[in-house]
Amino acid sequence: MSAGGALQGQVAIVTGAGRGIGHAIAMALAREAAAVVLAARTRQELAAAAAAIRESGGRALAIPTDVAQDGAVEAMVEQAIAEFGRVDVLVTAAGAASFGPVMGTKPSDWDPLLAVNLRAVMVCCRAVLPMMIRQRRGTIINIASVAAQRPIAGAAVYTATKAGVVGFSRVLAEELRADGVRVGVLVPGAVDTPLWDTIGNAPDRSRMLRPEDVARAAVLIASLPPGASLEELTLLPSGGIL
Ligand SMILES: NC(=O)c1ccc[n+]([C@@H]2O[C@H](COP(=O)([O-])OP(=O)(O)OC[C@H]3O[C@@H](n4cnc5c(N)ncnc54)[C@H](OP(=O)(O)O)[C@@H]3O)[C@@H](O)[C@H]2O)c1
Repeated sequence: MSAGGALQGQVAIVTGAGRGIGHAIAMALAREAAAVVLAARTRQELAAAAAAIRESGGRALAIPTDVAQDGAVEAMVEQAIAEFGRVDVLVTAAGAASFGPVMGTKPSDWDPLLAVNLRAVMVCCRAVLPMMIRQRRGTIINIASVAAQRPIAGAAVYTATKAGVVGFSRVLAEELRADGVRVGVLVPGAVDTPLWDTIGNAPDRSRMLRPEDVARAAVLIASLPPGASLEELTLLPSGGIL
């Protein structure tokens, strides 16, 4: 970790940090010298990521957390503050995807995606606000998807969660301006992560973005000077959406 990193002295919480986009963002924030709190459910993945950060000279804390449980999110943020004293950056990269036509699903099938991709994002944002407002400083980066902007048949439920994240983030940004807290939403096209492992008919993964591409965008949002707020950033594979 570079002593002169752009996020020296800052503390970042990253949900979904065990693999995929969240993992790449956690590593990139640590390279910028942030202390990183890694949250997801799979303990081994979190422990490995935290160990890799520490071996490179950084500070990291793995906190196994199911973000769909409000109490677990509150406890995770409390533990982060107890360990590192503040929270400067929140990245909500915990998420899931499943696809299929609306008529092929039951309403109860929609609940897991709504819980993790939308409600948990809202709960995580809410949980860090008291600290960020007290500090008069903070950057929230929510991970949406290009599905929120372009209709893709079979992605109605996923799209509803991601469009919800975009709308929530826009309003939260307005509510927090006077408090010095920035809210941005990162809108990636397809990214080659384990998310696609269980999805049939996945597009050509070699043409997708790399998780590290999304991480560079997240570092940009987090490391802008306090007077600038990058609030919506769409990042597509250069070959276009897949
Ligand atoms: N991959 C893409 O093409 C793409 C494109 C645009 C946007 N996105 C969005 O980016 C985010 C990350 O996607 P990804 O591709 O990196 O997915 P991924 O490789 O499947 O990783 C998802 C991460 O979220 C965590 N997670 C899932 N449910 C959780 C829960 N209930 N509590 C805590 N953590 C949970 C997973 O850990 P555990 O299972 O161990 O909890 C894992 O660390 C998602 O919101 C996704 O919608 C992805």
